[in-house]
Amino acid sequence: MINNIGEKMGAVKYRVVDLFGCEREVIAEASARAQTDMHDYEGFVDKFTPKKTTDDCYTPPEAFKIVLDYVRERCDIDGAEIVRPFYPGGDFESVPYTENMVVVDNPPFSIIAKICRFYIKNGIRFFLFGPHLTAFSSDLDVTHIIASADITYENGATIKTSFVSNMFGDLKIIAAADLCAKFKALEDSKKVNLPKYEYPDEVLTVSRIAYFVEKGFSLEIRKSEVAHCRQIASQKPHGKTLFGSGFLASAATAAATAAATAAAKSTENIIVWQLSPRELETIARLGLPPAGSP
Ligand SMILES: C[S@@+](CC[C@H](N)C(=O)[O-])C[C@H]1O[C@@H](n2cnc3c(N)ncnc32)[C@H](O)[C@@H]1O
Repeated sequence: MINNIGEKMGAVKYRVVDLFGCEREVIAEASARAQTDMHDYEGFVDKFTPKKTTDDCYTPPEAFKIVLDYVRERCDIDGAEIVRPFYPGGDFESVPYTENMVVVDNPPFSIIAKICRFYIKNGIRFFLFGPHLTAFSSDLDVTHIIASADITYENGATIKTSFVSNMFGDLKIIAAADLCAKFKALEDSKKVNLPKYEYPDEVLTVSRIAYFVEKGFSLEIRKSEVAHCRQIASQKPHGKTLFGSGFLASAATAAATAAATAAAKSTENIIVWQLSPRELETIARLGLPPAGSP
């Protein structure tokens, strides 16, 4: 049942998602609730001022797709309109919800209990991203979908995320290993694709120096031994630069730096297995013609 929130006043924006996951923006007349807010003019204007807080973790499309697929598999939402009311300056309470709408979105976690209460009170179906560790902190009439999903949001922050919904009837907790596995696969696929950069010994970056400093090795380098450098020529075609810039170093400085790096490496708990004299003899014979052949 949708309560009396269908009367409209002013404009409100939200997004709708079609069957194929494509999104479009909708600008509609806001619900009656927005009219009440107009009396608090400062509060009303503040709602439309874009903010940058910890609540501003934007969902990568591939993460949203995992969630949408899960909702479609588990909930009877055929023909429903998927809406995403949470965006900078948005006002989820003013969206003119209809019975055919299902809210699937990543809301600001700091007000998630208030959001759930609003949707429950107004009979609006929802499936929302939510905080993981504090998932059980409010005693709301919802189902907790515990996915323990590490999601890396668009701002680079990886946040353990679970979900909350009012579409699972009398289920209180769903320990969703399938959902967890999908997010893990997504995170792993991103890690595999991240390139690691290695530079020749003659290129000094601050992290190269930091590596041996942190392991207790000091070094002093004269000004005359280095030249400042922002990008080496091989990076140009790829549009890459030395992160934080760096220095080109003389051969002697490059060797001293490499020695300090090697010394630092030797403090790590790496066991190097040695070959026996016999194995070395075998290796020395490899590739030679068999004994006795002409
Ligand atoms: C965690 S972000 C997620 C944004 C987007 N839904 C996504 O999935 O990428 C939550 C967004 O909700 C917005 N927000 C904060 N209060 C809101 C409200 N009362 N109504 C609608 N959106 C709000 C924030 O500005 C923020 O952009």
